[in-house]
Amino acid sequence: MTAGQPPGPPAVPEEQGVGVSVAVPSVDAAPHSQPVAWRHRHLLDVDVLSADETELVMRTTDAMREVLGRPIAKVPALRGTNVTILFYEASTRTRVSFEVAAKNLSADVVNIATATSSVVKGESFLDTLRTIEALGAGMLVLRHAHSGAPYLAAEHFGGSVLNGGDGWHAHPTQAILDLYTMRRRLPGGTVAGRKVVILGDALHSRVARSNIWSLTAAGADLWVCGPATLVRGLEAWAGSGVGPASRRFTVTSDVNAALRDADVVMALRLQQERMSGGLLPSLREYSARFGLTRERLALARPGALVMHPGPINEGVEIAPDVAEGIQSVITEQVANGVAVRMALLYLLAGVRGPR
Ligand code: NCD
Repeated sequence: MTAGQPPGPPAVPEEQGVGVSVAVPSVDAAPHSQPVAWRHRHLLDVDVLSADETELVMRTTDAMREVLGRPIAKVPALRGTNVTILFYEASTRTRVSFEVAAKNLSADVVNIATATSSVVKGESFLDTLRTIEALGAGMLVLRHAHSGAPYLAAEHFGGSVLNGGDGWHAHPTQAILDLYTMRRRLPGGTVAGRKVVILGDALHSRVARSNIWSLTAAGADLWVCGPATLVRGLEAWAGSGVGPASRRFTVTSDVNAALRDADVVMALRLQQERMSGGLLPSLREYSARFGLTRERLALARPGALVMHPGPINEGVEIAPDVAEGIQSVITEQVANGVAVRMALLYLLAGVRGPR
């Protein structure tokens, strides 16, 4: 149990996680009334999460899945809380998933698409934040093209900030739902010791960066594979910062070596909107050399999981028959995303105090 836990008995008996134990909140009740060992007011990236905290998120997500299975998939936990969703970039699943999650917790949800807001009239980022706060927002879900924008928001916004993706930097809720999906599907319920491959455009990918942190911290044998131009610099990323010195992490352009005996293969979209040119000879060439086809997938372990954060460019980074094949858990990732975001909104809403 980490420090700072309020006094009182746990809401439900302690459950055994993988190597750690956590007290899971009773999610029908308001978050403030729960004795939960969670200290983060914001969720900006996964690098600040301890093993216990990750376990707590996983267990709370289980509780939210149980809520989602009820005839009325709703709890009153966030009644009276305004969750504002401010996206400066295109999104379908992340935005909708946060909206559905907040509504399932009975929050009041406000959606701001910047293309139709005063941002187009030149309103600054900080003015927009001040306006949103004055209009009553208690929690802010932010997606921004600039890496670091949620960190700036967290310094100025009075409530909680959840990073819904910032530039190339981080996408914590995606990494957490990816971890959750793997744990549910892998025998033994853990990624520890499993070979996980992130295949594709890791350079421009905030999904890859957050996943590198959470998966190596969870003990996975993580491989990042793509053309040399699209995986450069990632070794240094994994080696920086705090965390176990023994992180298992390989960066390669050898797709056969990466896929051989893999337990999980996560394909990434080629983020062409972030490329200034010259990084790839052609889409066809990329697809021929790095696309996840059935033949390539056969190098992995039988039954290896196929994942993708979406949106998918079928026929480019992944073949349609693989994306829709029996090994694919892509739609499960989307469904789990709702429960994970419910859990995170719930846990963050329980934390108050100075910025
Ligand atoms: C990703 C994103 O926007 O970071 N998608 C997502 O949120 N599920 C990945 C992408 O855009 O390719």
